[in-house]
Amino acid sequence: MIKLGVNIDHVATLRQARRTFEPDPVMAASLAILGGADIITVHLREDRRHIQDRDLKLLRQIVFTKLNLEMSISREIVDIAIETGTERVTIVPEKRQEITTEGGLDVVSQNREITNVVKRLKETGIIVSLFIDPDGAQISASKDVGAEFIELHTGNYANARDDKLRNKMIENLRTGVEIAKKLGLKVNAGHGLTYQNVGMIVESLDIEELHIGHSIISRSVFVGIQRAVSEMKELIFKHTYNHYK
Ligand code: PXP
Repeated sequence: MIKLGVNIDHVATLRQARRTFEPDPVMAASLAILGGADIITVHLREDRRHIQDRDLKLLRQIVFTKLNLEMSISREIVDIAIETGTERVTIVPEKRQEITTEGGLDVVSQNREITNVVKRLKETGIIVSLFIDPDGAQISASKDVGAEFIELHTGNYANARDDKLRNKMIENLRTGVEIAKKLGLKVNAGHGLTYQNVGMIVESLDIEELHIGHSIISRSVFVGIQRAVSEMKELIFKHTYNHYK
């Protein structure tokens, strides 16, 4: 079954709204794991708008499943990833003004910088994933720079407003998965996925992991994080059955 990575940044966003100590993303991680999260993801942004260095340190100690750090290729953050000894890193583009990650990483034009960062991370045993659009050139470049995983950006699929466009976006993703697998890359997917649109992804794509944040944390406001995660896991399970039918 496809594994579920739960991004808990929004819990830290709420805490930072008051610069206080609650709600604590560390507590959220424990409850998400109880609900069945296979991976806990946080994005340590250069501007520290939500997750703080302290969160990462504590999460490293208490997350007994897998901890995935989303990050830019800034030297400061790469050093922190190595110091913390997180198992997994997903490199994402990062702009100060954006509300959330917009678009995939441009591995083609940043080939040299990304190669150096991937090399440094891999030398310390960290598994590296690159967040990219389902584009053949970006997928090949990801292989060239030494990544083991890619995460295909599902934003265009999630934002598609009609079936025709949605099907086209699924086809792009499916082709992306095929290209990546032929190159020996492992494939994840994420961004903009919800309880309503995750089914088609599970049924259509042969991938390893889904990475979901906003929708799960939004539901958790009403039902609690443990239940919100377990409901997403159940959906993935249900659609996995259809995938093989
Ligand atoms: N994957 C990556 C690489 C991301 O940057 C994000 C957002 O932080 C997600 C997945 C989760 O996206 P969403 O919050 O829309 O589920």
